[in-house]
Amino acid sequence: MSVTTQALQSFQNIDNARHRTLITALVQKLHDYINEVQLTEDEWLHAIQFLTKTGQLCHEQRQEYILLSDVLGISMLVDQINHQKNEIQTPSTVFGPFFIENMPIRQFADSIVIEGEEQTIPLLITGQIRNEYGEAISNAYIDVWQTADNGMYSGQDDMQQIDNLRGVFISQLNGSYAIKSILPVSYQIPSDGTVGQLLNYAKRTFWRPAHIHFKIAAEGYQPLVTHLFLENDDYLNNDAVFGVKDRLIVSYQFKKLDEESKVLYGLDRDYYLITYDFVLSAE
Ligand code: BEZ
Ligand code: FE
Repeated sequence: MSVTTQALQSFQNIDNARHRTLITALVQKLHDYINEVQLTEDEWLHAIQFLTKTGQLCHEQRQEYILLSDVLGISMLVDQINHQKNEIQTPSTVFGPFFIENMPIRQFADSIVIEGEEQTIPLLITGQIRNEYGEAISNAYIDVWQTADNGMYSGQDDMQQIDNLRGVFISQLNGSYAIKSILPVSYQIPSDGTVGQLLNYAKRTFWRPAHIHFKIAAEGYQPLVTHLFLENDDYLNNDAVFGVKDRLIVSYQFKKLDEESKVLYGLDRDYYLITYDFVLSAE
């Protein structure tokens, strides 16, 4: 009996059928791969050392394995299989490693700029949260996070207060939301670990196109994890983690301050505007 057959048979006592399929299919594919490439002992040892080092880099604030999954396109493949069931709902994309839970609740049109960047032209992001039938969803929790001008997230950067450029907004009765911020910038994903070694070796880019992250949750609806990407970014066609989807690319317009923007959104200067409606799917 071949070692592959023996290894497969050794997992037949797992009671849960789905778990049995997951592990036996994995063993089968790994054995097929090793046969196909005729893996040498040196290559096998190198792979073990790479995975060991990747694990050693992981801690509460750093998940090198998620980053590895992202740059291998696995995160987006899992996303594709599990979401995007129709053309109406807003597409989801990669979660990334920089989300922080329990950020402050903000009011309609509050700014998430807590420190610095005061001289920058503000960005207003506004629109509606609704369902696939066009009905407004009120009380949706909209978690938002983005990088500062230096391309770093709070939590990554000791110079930023932890709630800088982060916050949770709650949609109004008519589903509307409004967030004041600044334009995000393109930035490079962490390069100082095993994933960095891999990307350098493959002569790949570390860049992600400028984007703002959203995690939207409402009772009775599937949570949505997504980004809005800025149009015309240099890296839209070359995202290190393959996260760009056409329907998530938005335009931003320069607007002169007028009475409505002063009164409705508390703006005091000319500003950039992004309007975007998020469509959630029922659970
Ligand atoms: C992010 O957009 O925050 C991100 C996503 C995947 C890998 C690294 C960063
Ligand atoms: Fe990001």
